[in-house]
Amino acid sequence: MAFTYFFRDLQTLELICGHVIPDLHAKPEIKIWDAGCAMGPEPYTLAMLLRDRMDQLDFQKVKIQATDIDGSDLFDKIIFAAEYPREQVQRIPTEIFAKYFIKLENRDYYRLTDEIRGAVIFQKHNLLTLNSIGKDFGLILCKNVLLHFNEQERIDVIRMFHDSLIEGGYLAMEQTQKLPVELENRFEPVVSNARIYRKRIDQG
Ligand SMILES: C[S@@+](CC[C@H](N)C(=O)[O-])C[C@H]1O[C@@H](n2cnc3c(N)ncnc32)[C@H](O)[C@@H]1O
Repeated sequence: MAFTYFFRDLQTLELICGHVIPDLHAKPEIKIWDAGCAMGPEPYTLAMLLRDRMDQLDFQKVKIQATDIDGSDLFDKIIFAAEYPREQVQRIPTEIFAKYFIKLENRDYYRLTDEIRGAVIFQKHNLLTLNSIGKDFGLILCKNVLLHFNEQERIDVIRMFHDSLIEGGYLAMEQTQKLPVELENRFEPVVSNARIYRKRIDQG
């Protein structure tokens, strides 16, 4: 199973909520690609944080396309069911947990509400094919995935992300992932304390 957990790297997710989403807010749809989402804690954490800050109508504009190569062939079922055992949901702040999880009657599992589940769609996808899953994303989140690739693969995948973003769209990676120098002219850093970059508007 891939290593992941709810509320991982909350700092980056909070900065996304504070700096990225307000910039995309006026758009009719807020399209997000979570690339390498594992079994769902990351895209669902983002969905809960966004719902907490948005009203119901605005939240309906949020579409998170979550993808993973899914070597276990299980992630689609887990993400669709959105049911997680007690030990995986223990880190979630109490107030958020109470709002967005429902205890299952017959098992020590907790299911996300339909509203949060509905914001996330999973699709199996191998980033190294370099075929994008779509265009016009406002935000691409790719955390703790690129470190598994070699330098040229990282450059190629980030270039593919660049082509998949709207002008001025955002790319977020984990704190330790640097933008390759070859691509520095395509993105500008947004904050000093996280790896969040904005696609430069004057670049193709
Ligand atoms: C450590 S997990 C990161 C999960 C989540 N992004 C996080 O930060 O908590 C890495 C994920 O990358 C996925 N992955 C590895 N190679 C991939 C590829 N070529 N295409 C898509 N996903 C890949 C793995 O299946 C795994 O789920």
